Amino acid sequence: MQTNSRRSMVAGNWKMNGDKALVKQMQNVLAEVSLDNMDAVICPPFPFLGLFADNIKLGAQNMSQFDSGAHTGEVSVSILKEFGCSYIIIGHSERREDNFESDDVVAIKVEKALNAGLTPILCFGEPEKIREDGSLFSYIAAQLDAVLQQVGIAQFANIVLAYEPIWAIGTGKTASPEQAQEVHAFVRGHLAKLDSDIAANIVILYGGSVKGSNAEELFSQEDVDGGLIGGASLNPEDFLSICQAANQ
Ligand code: PGA
Repeated sequence: MQTNSRRSMVAGNWKMNGDKALVKQMQNVLAEVSLDNMDAVICPPFPFLGLFADNIKLGAQNMSQFDSGAHTGEVSVSILKEFGCSYIIIGHSERREDNFESDDVVAIKVEKALNAGLTPILCFGEPEKIREDGSLFSYIAAQLDAVLQQVGIAQFANIVLAYEPIWAIGTGKTASPEQAQEVHAFVRGHLAKLDSDIAANIVILYGGSVKGSNAEELFSQEDVDGGLIGGASLNPEDFLSICQAANQ
């Protein structure tokens, strides 16, 4: 049996939500508990990044594909680093859809984040019709292969993956633990064809309507190492209970 050193993780993706009061509340709630067996990461909108205390692990929700210069409205990886980010969500389905981010752009962003020493949280996942028409695994493999071609398998030692079926995001329609496990195991198997150690050790999060009430069952699946949480990450108590489910 392959051994692994995977550490659980829960990342809260606030999306375009939250306010200064929530920054304080979240910080206070997280300060009251010790979560020794997992990493809790907050990914707020850009302006709030600078408001968090140093003991909170921070992630950005996006970064520019460019290094600096005349790119109005964009934020570079070096700026995010200066504001304390150690993670960056890359390739979220909402950005792929709203901002037309292709697999190629996603791959470039992952490479730039890695070069800057930050950990990409690389999102992938299928729309419902892909699952229905039976092309789920080839669709997911293609999303991952675009990044593999750009950065190579060795760099996957420095990447966190997040499987987010689009039909489960913000819909209340969570993937069943078996559906999540099936895809996570497929991904590990896909990477194992290139490097079995990296495949065994890469952290794979599940995202899509994770709540305090379903987190434990999802996280108990063999290949599910935690979650990327949208809606429930806006309530500090709910977020904490999800973190506690990952801390066991
Ligand atoms: P949700 O969002 O938890 O609100 O479904 C998850 C995500 O989009 O990261």
